Amino acid sequence: MSTHPSAPSPLRVALLGGGTVGGAVARALLGRADHYAQRAGRPVQLLGVAVRDTGRPREGIPTTLLTDDPRALAEGADVVVEVMGGSEPAGELIEAALRRGAQVVTANKQLVARRGEELHALAAEHGAGLHYEAAVMAAVPVMAVVRESLAGDEVTRIRGIVNGSTNYVLDLVGREGVPFADAVRQAGELGYLEADPTEDLQGLDAAAKIAILARTAWGVPAPLEEVEVTGIADLTDADFADAARQGGVLKLVASAERDTDGRVRASVRPLILPAEDPLAQARGGTNVVELEAALAGPVRLVGAGAGGDQTASAVLGDVVRAGLAAARR
Ligand code: NAP
Ligand code: HSE
Repeated sequence: MSTHPSAPSPLRVALLGGGTVGGAVARALLGRADHYAQRAGRPVQLLGVAVRDTGRPREGIPTTLLTDDPRALAEGADVVVEVMGGSEPAGELIEAALRRGAQVVTANKQLVARRGEELHALAAEHGAGLHYEAAVMAAVPVMAVVRESLAGDEVTRIRGIVNGSTNYVLDLVGREGVPFADAVRQAGELGYLEADPTEDLQGLDAAAKIAILARTAWGVPAPLEEVEVTGIADLTDADFADAARQGGVLKLVASAERDTDGRVRASVRPLILPAEDPLAQARGGTNVVELEAALAGPVRLVGAGAGGDQTASAVLGDVVRAGLAAARR
């Protein structure tokens, strides 16, 4: 009698959130199952998608997969993908998943910026995994570069445009003369804005991202409340006119470096950049970051900083990474 190796058990994925990002993740997992099975080394099974309103149809997602009980959904998963946003219940769901040794993927930059150290400690204690490439600069794989590719070097400065919606707004207002409120509305229609758009417009979203980058680059605390933040909400026509008169471009610039005591100094503020500055050339929802490294010199990364499919790209990369990590346990 011949024996057959048993088929690998599927990687069970619970998707908490089926909005702009979650919808794109679900459609990719369902539509390209063979691709993810090949990358993860076993079939990837989408257990369900947690949403608030299960009665609303979701493009490309069978209604049988929808649930309004994220806790029950997460309990049976090897990988819990949190794309709900907000502090709760996202925080307690992530915590519960880490406590039972699951792999967690999240795009929740506010949560990671505020509770990252605590959640990493919890993951280490329980042999779990915490992945959040999508939390910073969406499709641009900056976390992997800072955490892994530049691990043998020393990042000395980070400077970038790390918020897609405000870059879109500044671009439309500054280059095309679109009224500010119209540009904000369009950014919302494209899925670029947070559920609370003041997080974008007041610079808090960019502050969370630069804090996460700084902590990852330097392995020291980078408290969100210590980031100096000025957003774009109070910019006036005169500010845009001023930039045009100088031949420059208004951009929301996030930056971080360390002072002589090793403490992180980080800020987010609108600046008029010379037109030839690489940051000035970011159009629409594009993000760009310049990492200055001791050996490498400047390393620049550019790409889509917001949007459903674009963010799903980073989430799904983490799902594959999480699946491989789960298999090693
Ligand atoms: P979204 O469109 O508002 O989607 C949120 C989803 O979570 C919705 O499906 C919502 O259900 C569900 N949800 C919220 N609270 C819930 C609860 N208590 N129980 C069950 N379901 C709940 O938001 P998004 O734009 O996809 O963003 C999600 C996360 O990704 C946020 O942390 C955001 O910062 C991050 N992110 C977004 C982008 C982007 O470009 N949009 C980029 C990078 C990172 P309903 O649909 O029924 O309301
Ligand atoms: N609201 C965020 C932005 C989404 O505009 O950049 C991507 O993190």
